[in-house]
Amino acid sequence: MIFKLAGIKRVMKRPQQRRTLALLGALTIAGLLNDLFAAAVNYDEAKVGALPLPNVLRMEDGQSVTNAAIWRSLRRPEILRLFETQVYGKLLPRPATQSFRVVAEDRTLLDGRATRRDVEMDITVATNGTALKFTLILPNHRTGPVPVFVGIHVFDTSHSYPQPARARQLPGAPKQTDEDNARAGRAALDRILSRGYGVASLNVESLAPDSGTNYWRGVARLYGRTQPGSPGAEETGVIGIWAWGLSRAMDYFETTTDVDARRVIAIGHSRMGKTALWAAANDERFAAVVSNNSGCGGAALSKRDFGETVAIITRAFPHWFCGNFSKYGGHEELLPVDQHELISLIAPRPVYVASAVDDGWADPRGEFLAALNAEPVYRLLNVGGLGVNTMPAPDQPVGGTISYHYRQGQHALTDYDWEQYLAFADRCLSNVKTGK
Ligand code: GCU
Repeated sequence: MIFKLAGIKRVMKRPQQRRTLALLGALTIAGLLNDLFAAAVNYDEAKVGALPLPNVLRMEDGQSVTNAAIWRSLRRPEILRLFETQVYGKLLPRPATQSFRVVAEDRTLLDGRATRRDVEMDITVATNGTALKFTLILPNHRTGPVPVFVGIHVFDTSHSYPQPARARQLPGAPKQTDEDNARAGRAALDRILSRGYGVASLNVESLAPDSGTNYWRGVARLYGRTQPGSPGAEETGVIGIWAWGLSRAMDYFETTTDVDARRVIAIGHSRMGKTALWAAANDERFAAVVSNNSGCGGAALSKRDFGETVAIITRAFPHWFCGNFSKYGGHEELLPVDQHELISLIAPRPVYVASAVDDGWADPRGEFLAALNAEPVYRLLNVGGLGVNTMPAPDQPVGGTISYHYRQGQHALTDYDWEQYLAFADRCLSNVKTGK
């Protein structure tokens, strides 16, 4: 050690080598690398660029989409295919064999006002199998099947008080104790359940762990992936696998009389907001979808250079997308599809996009513009749309079948957000014929 230090001191005497050493040292510090990366992120609206968006109502061959039939039979499948081949990869097929087991049920949650049910889904593909896990919380005062919000990690299923509205802590803020968290969790759950909704959360571990090296050890393994490595050109990425998992939860809802499977809302925050949108785009059994601060690869337009970009996200999280998506990092002009078209795939079903003022990374304006530019499809299908052309002021929710808000505060799924989503659900699910 002493010898090494002496050696370094010697080298440090020479200016050129001193610079090289300093540089090498800096390069090994991951945090600094991140900072350098962050420095390249644009937060200036004047520098966003002006790449044109693909016209959601024009086919790739230039043909205009003038009615609902052409939308349904030609344009919608075309857009879906572009997302499958260029962004997320095609969803895996439904497993040939799947069954559900209630592994625990506790009817005494929230002083007896709610039931917590832990479910495992056994799925088998060829001779391989795994068990997916999720937790469903139902209000006990129900008189029939209830509508449900479902998402991945909407709350922490390992916690005795699931916390569907736990805000992310600002650095330096007083640390929240378990008791604080439990209180916040109870209050949020109370709010959702007392309005007559259930809430369900899936775990990612057996589905696809959120790791570039381990994601394949989940369901991807059953479908033929045998080793680590980023997804191939059109191979399903992790967002696709998570979305597939939401559809498996929906399969369960169709089997249980406690849930109204025709009034299930896919919901997700951030990476899980991207997932909720893609799940509902593929699986039309979801009655509506809520994207909370989903950002790049979610509701935010990829062709705007603001906050996180295609280059940044595919470098940091290559496992989330199909391999092709990374080709568009720095070449967004070549991307044949953009995220307003992801929202258009939800039409005519209701969709809520939400942004936060201190969440520039997710590009709030890009999220608003994606919602706005999906509107032509909603109008074509005669269900109205956003109803405004300009981004609303903070804390002024807008919209109809497409809804949007720009909340004060940071990147999180907060009580305020839940309040808006419950009102949205009340508003738009009242027309849906109840199931069962
Ligand atoms: C990172 C990532 C985002 C993602 C977010 C999250 O910030 O860059 O794209 O939405 O994590 O999931 O919290």
